[in-house]
Amino acid sequence: MQPSWWQTLGALLGLSLLALILTLAFDARVGLLILVLGLALPLARHLRYLRQLQRWVEDKSVELPAAEGLWGEVYRRLQQEFQAQREAHARSRAEAQQMLQAARLLPDGVVMLDAQNRILWFNQAAQDLLGLQERRDLGQFITYLVRSAAFASWLAKTDGSLLTLPGQDNRTLNLRQVALPQSQKMLIVHDITELARVDAMRRDFVANVSHELRTPVTVIVGFLEAFADMEQPDPEQFKNHIQLLREQSERIRRLLDDLLTLARLEADTEVPAEAIDVAALARSLVQEAEGLSGGRHRIVLELQSAAGIKGSPKEIHSAFSNLVSNAVRYTPPGGVVTLRWRDNANGGAEFSVTDTGEGIEAQHIPRLTERFYRVDRGRSRATGGTGLGLAIVKHVLQRHQARLRIESTVGKGSTFTAVFPAERVIPAASTRPPASVPAAA
Ligand SMILES: Nc1ncnc2c1ncn2[C@@H]1O[C@H](COP(=O)(O)OP(=O)(O)OP(=O)(O)O)[C@@H](O)[C@H]1O
Ligand SMILES: [Mg+2]
Repeated sequence: MQPSWWQTLGALLGLSLLALILTLAFDARVGLLILVLGLALPLARHLRYLRQLQRWVEDKSVELPAAEGLWGEVYRRLQQEFQAQREAHARSRAEAQQMLQAARLLPDGVVMLDAQNRILWFNQAAQDLLGLQERRDLGQFITYLVRSAAFASWLAKTDGSLLTLPGQDNRTLNLRQVALPQSQKMLIVHDITELARVDAMRRDFVANVSHELRTPVTVIVGFLEAFADMEQPDPEQFKNHIQLLREQSERIRRLLDDLLTLARLEADTEVPAEAIDVAALARSLVQEAEGLSGGRHRIVLELQSAAGIKGSPKEIHSAFSNLVSNAVRYTPPGGVVTLRWRDNANGGAEFSVTDTGEGIEAQHIPRLTERFYRVDRGRSRATGGTGLGLAIVKHVLQRHQARLRIESTVGKGSTFTAVFPAERVIPAASTRPPASVPAAA
């Protein structure tokens, strides 16, 4: 800008000097005329440039025309700054868009509220968790949409406390509010359904374990107190009591064993892939079943496959043996328990235990593998059950990528089947040939 500025000043000084010389040499009027003429031309030019500038200030979409000298410099600077501003603006717009897009996709719900708790904006997760609808709910008071007295009073607080609230589709939500400038607020909605479920499960589990332990422990303590008070115990009665004490202690031991097994199954992520001869295992299970039944049931073995499986022999034995012992225990005397091993259509194989027992009503079936779930508590306890057997079976099978299928008809009996996928099956050729005829054990 410097040279143009000095040039203009120089021209003005030159003009004034010329007017002075002409005034001195001729007449003041000639000097004045020259001065006026000399100023009028640049003034007209300045006015034109000023007008152009005014137009541009009013409407920045028109381009500033090329100008000379000082004006050219001013125009160029203005245009440069305007361009830089426009770019900075576009950049911050793009950044804001990106932030908005990210906020829209956040897994947590976000709701922006104005000072009166009217909804300014919310993201997709808030829509799903709180059941908001974009078109309908923008501008609405949030307390009209989230209808809960606890929510309304929490919203009025600013102490940073958390609120737990039931959400859409039986979800459990945690809400937090963040204060923003101009009394606006941001609500952050976090879905804690899974956490709440696990917590409830943990509480149930502890309650169940305590409950299961309480009865035998109470019985044991009762007998011990009675013994302490006895002066001359009757030997026959004493023997009976000792037997009862033994049964209750055995029950505690079984419960602890099962709990430890479950804990181990959960903690241990490595599953061995040892070859298991299922036919041999099934034969030994038949003997176990006969021992448990004491001759009150007929135990049948049907080996229709010579395949083996890859897995943990100990775990698979424990799972199958649970199914067999259930079948014997929940089948009245005279019933039949059938153990079957066969290939299935998908290249997998299935081990099933069918009984002709009392059967299970359909509503109980999905819950049978829950810990401590029994259809008939008294009945299961009377037969020595802890209610953990099928939970262990489910865990073991899951670890082997297998699943448990339960079919049952009340009054007719049940079939519990462990279904193994092809990748766990060792084809027949690599083990011994199948026993072709169903073998009654
Ligand atoms: N074959 C069956 N026929 C009828 N009911 C069964 C059969 N198997 C299991 N059930 C029902 O399912 C419930 C859960 O079985 P689960 O094996 O988990 O526990 P449990 O047999 O009671 O005790 P545990 O096996 O730990 O000693 C049983 O209490 C029983 O009510
Ligand atoms: Mg059982």
